[in-house]
Amino acid sequence: MLQEAVEAAREAGALLRERFGRVAGYELKTGHQDLVTSADAEAEAVIVQRLKRAFPEHAILSEEMAFAARQRGEPLPPPEGFRWAVDPLDGTTNFAHGVPFFAVSIALERDGEPLVAAIYEPLRDELFTAVRGGGAALNGRPLRVSGVAELRRALLGTGFPTRSPLRERNLEYMARFLPKAQSLRRFGAAALGFAYVACGRLEAYWELTLNRWDCAAGVLLVEEAGGRVSRLDGGPVGPDDHEIVASNGHLHDALLDVFAK
Ligand code: IPD
Ligand code: CA
Ligand code: CA
Repeated sequence: MLQEAVEAAREAGALLRERFGRVAGYELKTGHQDLVTSADAEAEAVIVQRLKRAFPEHAILSEEMAFAARQRGEPLPPPEGFRWAVDPLDGTTNFAHGVPFFAVSIALERDGEPLVAAIYEPLRDELFTAVRGGGAALNGRPLRVSGVAELRRALLGTGFPTRSPLRERNLEYMARFLPKAQSLRRFGAAALGFAYVACGRLEAYWELTLNRWDCAAGVLLVEEAGGRVSRLDGGPVGPDDHEIVASNGHLHDALLDVFAK
């Protein structure tokens, strides 16, 4: 199953690499901050075709298909059983502006628990993988979260919610962390935020508006790399949670304290 996820992520990633800088324009979905390009749909088609062929009995929750289903008033596949959570292009706003930071994210879940994860960053050819109970790897080499245990030495990442009042709440969290942490980043691709925690480039990453396709692979990666993932209130992350923080583990309680303040 990991093999299939990896091949799908690589194939979609190659397509995105090829389209990057050549796609003319974008369309808007739910509002002026919610972009989609022709490459999102093309990458999705590559992945979905592969997964359907390999696992015809599995459900697929993929961002653009889910958006279309919602538009038609159809229900999304529930978490029960085997379900693939797919983000064919995470970082569409970056991609549409020619900013070279985006990825493909694919996870297989069973009953809402991620079992297999592949996040592929095509421009740097970085493939992050994880299997539940089997560890995490970057381009085949085992990876681990950082050992930093002080907030003042921590590089943190987040994303901006696109709607009120979550936008304002996250600005408040950012204002709390800015003086306490070493620094703060907003890269524009949530899946890579998790991947960067898993490999120790960031100490923690949080967001308030994550969808399952943004975070299912990342959650498993961080856990398998020795980190910790929870809701912002410290509770366990379920398949319908949107407010999630992933860290190297050492800083997790300190981060939760700042959110709770
Ligand atoms: C978005 C990006 C962004 C994050 C949003 C995601 P998309 O995904 O990861 O950085 O802040 O929460 O929805 O739309 O580019 O796949
Ligand atoms: Ca995404
Ligand atoms: Ca996407």
